Amino acid sequence: MPVFAWKGESLEDYWWSTWQALSHPGGQGPQLIVDDGGDATLLIHKGYELEEGSDWVNSPSASHEEEVIKDLLKQIHSENPRRWHDVVKDWRGVSEETTTGVHRLYKMQEAGKLLVPAINVNDSVTKSKFDNLYGCRESLADGIKRATDVMVAGKVAVVCGYGDVGKGSSHSLRGMGARVVVTEIDPINALQAAMEGFEVTTIEDTLGRGDIYVTCTGNCEIVTLEHMRKMKDQAIVCNIGHFDNEIQMDRLNGSDARKTNIKPQVDMYTFPEGHSIFVLAEGRLVNLGCATGHPSFVMSNSFSNQTLAQLDLWKNRGTYKVGVYTLPKRLDEEVARLHLEKIGVKLTTLSPKQAEYLGVAVEGPYKPDHYRY
Ligand SMILES: NC(=O)c1ccc[n+]([C@@H]2O[C@H](COP(=O)([O-])OP(=O)(O)OC[C@H]3O[C@@H](n4cnc5c(N)ncnc54)[C@H](O)[C@@H]3O)[C@@H](O)[C@H]2O)c1
Repeated sequence: MPVFAWKGESLEDYWWSTWQALSHPGGQGPQLIVDDGGDATLLIHKGYELEEGSDWVNSPSASHEEEVIKDLLKQIHSENPRRWHDVVKDWRGVSEETTTGVHRLYKMQEAGKLLVPAINVNDSVTKSKFDNLYGCRESLADGIKRATDVMVAGKVAVVCGYGDVGKGSSHSLRGMGARVVVTEIDPINALQAAMEGFEVTTIEDTLGRGDIYVTCTGNCEIVTLEHMRKMKDQAIVCNIGHFDNEIQMDRLNGSDARKTNIKPQVDMYTFPEGHSIFVLAEGRLVNLGCATGHPSFVMSNSFSNQTLAQLDLWKNRGTYKVGVYTLPKRLDEEVARLHLEKIGVKLTTLSPKQAEYLGVAVEGPYKPDHYRY
């Protein structure tokens, strides 16, 4: 199976690789896509819209990456003005791995622009409540440690965002003895963090005392250049959210801060006043850039969901309507069930009387769809 990726690739390389992965022999494209973050889905949709007359490729770009995508689409269009229509003709669906990619899918659906049926794998309980939470609980600290070897105990760590990834990240850092501060915009998540004993405040309130900054909001411009200017000397800044726009990397790189590469994936930026900060993985996912991502056991849960989603999209390709779907709870429970034996868990079986008392079948599903775990 060809792999179109290598460590240290530029944005131009990355989007060229995405295009190559979508270019199959004989001018064909994929019939099904497993996406993570929605970039393959985005490239096809934007290319298709261009062929339909959209002028997006000529509009001003918010980032260098957007410029790279637009340049690539223009190049493909000049070579073959029907390329993406040909791909879409045979495309039967996509299953999306992560929160940010799912967010993009729902936005496309709302705008009436989605072209194929899509399965939101992230919101299977056995994905987001495991990979995002327990995966990051292990791989965040792993990334920071491999990159810096810093003593985490006693340091002030600031985690921006207390969703599933933020919860795993905060607990990971606390587990190593950091004094963790959380920032949130959602009152429910902020209250959750406070009830877990974390200090909750704004990022501005932490500048000058925070030693480690971690972003995991799925949102943009969380750590700004102005924030970085006011950080404590030797502060470590990293992101474990899907995209690097959580930290203002473009502005930092274009600023008066002097960049010194310490080792691969670790850069020191020294501001004219004399203080420095360390940025890990160029602001990209630190657990992937500086470590090896999540352990395989938790990914096995995620990929079981992906496999079930792909099988379902193909088996029911004749009946699926364009839209975003989640897998049924029965399959979610099945994914968990399949992983119990490996870790030696003994599950209790409901008696028929108990099942009747709860109003569920002995073999499940055990919870209503609105149950939150
Ligand atoms: N690195 C990995 O291995 C990995 C794994 C899973 C998910 N992710 C990515 O991590 C990101 C977060 O995923 P999640 O599942 O935790 O999402 P989530 O929606 O559960 O959590 C994000 C949280 O950030 C908060 N937030 C938004 N804007 C904020 C701001 N300005 N300041 C502070 N908080 C803010 C939201 O209220 C929310 O609670 C996504 O981009 C997702 O794709 C990464």
